[in-house]
Amino acid sequence: MIALPTETVYGLAADVTNAAAVRRIYAIKGRPLDHPLIVHLPSAAQLERYAADVPPAARLLVERFWPGPLTIVLRKSDEVPLSVTGGQATVALRMIDHPLARDILRRFGSAVAAPSANRFGRVSPTTAEHVRADLGDDVDLIVDGGPARIGVESTIIDLTGDVPAILRQGAIGATALADALGTPVVARSGGSVRAPGMLAAHYAPRAALVVVEDGTQAEVAAQLRASGGHVAELILPDDPRAAARSLYASLRALDTQDFDTIVVALPADNEANAAVRDRLQRAATPALTNAEAYRFLQRAAAPSRRSRKTPDR
Ligand code: TXA
Ligand code: MG
Repeated sequence: MIALPTETVYGLAADVTNAAAVRRIYAIKGRPLDHPLIVHLPSAAQLERYAADVPPAARLLVERFWPGPLTIVLRKSDEVPLSVTGGQATVALRMIDHPLARDILRRFGSAVAAPSANRFGRVSPTTAEHVRADLGDDVDLIVDGGPARIGVESTIIDLTGDVPAILRQGAIGATALADALGTPVVARSGGSVRAPGMLAAHYAPRAALVVVEDGTQAEVAAQLRASGGHVAELILPDDPRAAARSLYASLRALDTQDFDTIVVALPADNEANAAVRDRLQRAATPALTNAEAYRFLQRAAAPSRRSRKTPDR
């Protein structure tokens, strides 16, 4: 079991057929056993080996987006143990677009199960140092492939239902997917806990994260400071890709500085920002809208802000 660089975030990888190694991944992450792992293929030619059937829609997406930040959910083959899929009959498949990881997987010759290399519920690692900081000696080897180019986890699309459904937002947006498929895709959010990234309060930093609408950040931060908070403002780059690339590293950097609150504005509500908005809203403590933020501010005037810190998950 090793930590691998990918274009999205670092992964903790184990041979899908090695039950002990897969168990170790769950143990190290502190991840519930029914939360499935993504299976990363050495080549698109191995789709048939791990999927029971490969519909034409999957071929279109693979052709257009692999290798790359797109995970496709299909019915699993017998090669995929139920321990990897959390007991489900479906499997999430992806092909990493990172030269080092691709080379390692090519030499290995078969698939590895790899969740993000962080403890469960925490912000994903985008550098080798993040992995070391999170997992320490629990991981035998960390392959340092430099900072992740994309910075947020892959888009997940489920092709096992009546219509293609996006389970997790990522760098590849709904329009690009619908375009490649020639059919509409729906976004499935909330409700299902098939993807832990869909649980509220995921991807959270240690400090309380106050997420506000654009334009109100400075004011909210000032009011929190006036009421005694040790408050950081996270200013994301305007460019959506740059924002995604720097999001987790920025949250981690601020988290090491012992702020009790981080205030950040949501980027504009458009498709290019969908993944960053999604991760920020999930990380928020609690998910604050503007109106709620002001109520939060009033409460913040009371002491013991520390007690509002997100408990470790
Ligand atoms: O970018 C990424 O996808 C990174 C890198 C390392 O590849 N991996 C990643 O893995 O984010 P993880 O384990 O942190 O998130 C995997 C997501 C989870 O939300 C999981 O529930 C979902 O994939 N998933 C896995 N198998 C699934 C299935 N059969 N059906 C629905 N969702 C599935
Ligand atoms: Mg994860």
